[in-house]
Amino acid sequence: MIRHETIERRGLLLALLILITVSIGGLVEIVPLFTIESTIEPVQGVRPYSPLELVGRNIYIREGCYVCHSQMIRPFRDEVERYGHYSLAAESMYDHPFQWGSKRTGPDLARVGGKYSNEWHVAHLVDPQSVVPESVMPKYPFLRERELEVEDIAAHLETNRLVGVPYTDEMIAAAAEDLRNQADPEADHEALLARYPKAAVGDFDGQPDRLTEMDALVAYLQVLGRMVDFSAVTPTQLRQ
Ligand code: HEC
Repeated sequence: MIRHETIERRGLLLALLILITVSIGGLVEIVPLFTIESTIEPVQGVRPYSPLELVGRNIYIREGCYVCHSQMIRPFRDEVERYGHYSLAAESMYDHPFQWGSKRTGPDLARVGGKYSNEWHVAHLVDPQSVVPESVMPKYPFLRERELEVEDIAAHLETNRLVGVPYTDEMIAAAAEDLRNQADPEADHEALLARYPKAAVGDFDGQPDRLTEMDALVAYLQVLGRMVDFSAVTPTQLRQ
């Protein structure tokens, strides 16, 4: 008791002792982080984006889709029931920059892959109100007209590699070819699918003989949330 009183009466001593106590608490939490390589738990199935998906992602960012759409399902019951399994950190580990967001004028898109057909996406992007009459989403018809610019795709993969995305030399060498093949219904997709499992292949924009920005954007939308097989990861306890 007496000792307590002595400490409490001396402001400076009290401040010093608080500082020491808080520092210990901080060190216990922070120091272990320096000994591990990553705070992200690896999850099976997560892979780098295919060249076409990567270009589609760039268009997604260029057009500001993230202004209205998030890509992060939070671990709350209402979100999980509406969108599916909550997002895992590993799912966006190759996203530079990530597209989590919190502004949801439209729905979250983290698991939109496979939810609709390519035709639906094209019709929706060209004129959202034709599919969802009350939609406030802008129209993007020009994406279907604009040829895809792909000359710098290999450099693009290399740049991602610089920031830690594990693109191999083989992936970089084949980038231009993979990009065209993915949107070509006639092409042999075996090597592409070995490099990028679960990639959607074939024609995306309804114009099989053209490679447009629409092809890339839809290829990207169709892979969102599809890489991880959730039945194999963790039981969705939230659904119980
Ligand atoms: C001004 C806000 C706004 C912008 C910008 C916007 N959207 Fe939307 N989006 C919406 C709204 C609202 C909806 C819900 C109504 C509908 O389906 O159109 C929606 C729905 C969607 C859906 C259907 C989701 C689902 O689960 O039903 C997709 C896919 C989509 N948007 C993609 C995009 C893409 C790609 C872009 C950028 C090219 C984009 N949006 C830009 C507002 C926006």
